Amino acid sequence: MSDPIPPTIEWQDGSVRLIDQRRLPDELAILECRSVGELCEAIRTMAVRGAPALGAAGAMGVALASVTGEPVEDAARRLKATRPTAINLAWGVDRTLAASDPVAEAQRIAAEDVACNRQLGAHGAELLPHGSRVLTHCNAGSLACVGYGTALGVIRAAHEQGRGPSVWVDETRPVLQGARLTAWELSRLGIPFRLVADAMAAGLMAAGEVDAIVVGADRIAANGDVANKVGTYGLAVLAQHHNIPFYVAAPVSTLDRETPTGDDIPVERRAADELAELAGRRIAPAGTEVENRAFDVTPAELVTAYVTEEGVVSRPGDLPI
Ligand code: MRU
Repeated sequence: MSDPIPPTIEWQDGSVRLIDQRRLPDELAILECRSVGELCEAIRTMAVRGAPALGAAGAMGVALASVTGEPVEDAARRLKATRPTAINLAWGVDRTLAASDPVAEAQRIAAEDVACNRQLGAHGAELLPHGSRVLTHCNAGSLACVGYGTALGVIRAAHEQGRGPSVWVDETRPVLQGARLTAWELSRLGIPFRLVADAMAAGLMAAGEVDAIVVGADRIAANGDVANKVGTYGLAVLAQHHNIPFYVAAPVSTLDRETPTGDDIPVERRAADELAELAGRRIAPAGTEVENRAFDVTPAELVTAYVTEEGVVSRPGDLPI
């Protein structure tokens, strides 16, 4: 059966074709990038986003440079500078730089992503008892990868196995990846969900209506600390208070052995407008100073288990890092 969600990013005839996520859920539009500059702009403006998708984008950026004749080392530097937190971006760039055939390597990375996520999903689904009400944050679905998804891959695998999960979808202020993207994916997949305001998570947990939390990751430091979409740390603290398992689902390419702890992970600061405006309309008084950190770091001790394509581990020391 064909996937109800098309690939997020593809190499086709010397260009990179990606789903323009800025236009979802209104329109499923494809953006074609024919130069490294166009691809960097697509990454910066979040036409393509999510750690594993950024890994594939980085790889395809190097492949693009190799066919357009742009200086490859310079392309690699520009691609890596677009977004600092997700380690997959640098991983995809470096792996492709080191390959003798960058185009083939970028396509291999894209294909491996989907296979990895299916494996990861199958491992993670075992953690969800029948009828679990699962809360997720941001979008760690097919759109955040090349296909299938990580945190949503776990939920999707549970659904495919007949475990009947249902999902609480955090809207995920300020860019609304939950409301716009996760809700779109779950509707296409026919998985029951309800959209909630981020601030509702605490009340839902207190009411006993959350059985598990599953999130993705942008980078997992060597000690197991996890950088993910801002708001994830708060959910992990709440989960501990309410005795709810908190799972992190990510491919091995998100593990960063070069970064010792979460304190060493660079946290992206994004434009003030993302917070000061809503749907293009200013909501904060003119001149309001804004702090817009796109990610936060959850300490390893709050993570119940990590799910990778290699299996489930509860101790960070057991991660295949
Ligand atoms: O700013 P974004 O939308 O790129 O942030 C995405 C996330 O935080 C995801 O949870 C993470 O990249 C994992 S995606 C499988």
